Amino acid sequence: MAQKCYRSELIALFGNPVDENATVVIQEAAFAARGLNYRYITTKVLPEDLETAVKSLKALNMKGANVTIPHKVEILKYLDHISDTAALMGAVNTIYVKDGETYGENTDGMGFITSVLGAGVEPLGKRAVILGAGGAARAMTVELAKAGVKHITIVNRTEAKGKALAALLNEKTPAKTEYAPWKGTYPIPEDADIVVNATSVGMYPDPGRPDIDYATLAPGMTVCDGVHNPRRTPFLDEAAKRGCKTLEGFGMLVNQGAVGFKLWTGLDAPVEVMIEALEREFA
Ligand code: ATR
Repeated sequence: MAQKCYRSELIALFGNPVDENATVVIQEAAFAARGLNYRYITTKVLPEDLETAVKSLKALNMKGANVTIPHKVEILKYLDHISDTAALMGAVNTIYVKDGETYGENTDGMGFITSVLGAGVEPLGKRAVILGAGGAARAMTVELAKAGVKHITIVNRTEAKGKALAALLNEKTPAKTEYAPWKGTYPIPEDADIVVNATSVGMYPDPGRPDIDYATLAPGMTVCDGVHNPRRTPFLDEAAKRGCKTLEGFGMLVNQGAVGFKLWTGLDAPVEVMIEALEREFA
């Protein structure tokens, strides 16, 4: 009979504030479904302790971690290796430990692109309009560019941030990118194929929706919301009314977690189980 193992494989979440982050629910459901003795531990880490926290991954022989606010950028300097994608985004949200070394990855945009491809939408040669220019917008646009989108319009209130993201994409990816100021109600250009809300507008408890001219949304467009709570946002409801294909941030969040699960366990994630766990949590 095989010797019983009482030791668990450990994954951490480093962040602050972190008490209301529900990632543990998705990952623990996935570990249980695959019969893995893994534990996901949500920890409060202050900026001055971040280096020690990263060292502890090695000291405790942990499998890895998720990284969230406010550490996604600072963490880069404490890791042994950074993926090209994470380096381009300048942010890491997932760490895995291999042969005693730490690897930084950014899966924020991968969940989004998995949802896009899963819906049968081919980004190659398409035109995308992105609302917002923060961390979420950066992750999503880098992945869209990698997937072959040919033209990106960054629409943002704050000009400097919008222009900076457009410049990064023009310099580091083949996607031709332009900045469009967001002054008043923004009309979506009629040749847009993919429209993404990468702002925080609509995120619980904000019941609002991005200030665009909804009459300019057309049936051929795929409309995606980075907001995952609520699952059905007013933004997506408006798009669905106009015959657009809609993609929920909820699915992107689960797909992003699925990429992390695979990096830590080497197994394909039980995505349906993860969706059900998150649905129960937000019900
Ligand atoms: P995240 O990492 O989630 O992307 P962030 O880096 O704070 O968060 O970025 C939030 C984005 O939402 C920004 O692009 C912000 O626009 P500004 O750069 O002008 O601040 C955008 N945003 C937030 N509230 C908004 C609003 N009411 N209307 C339009 N854009 C908004």
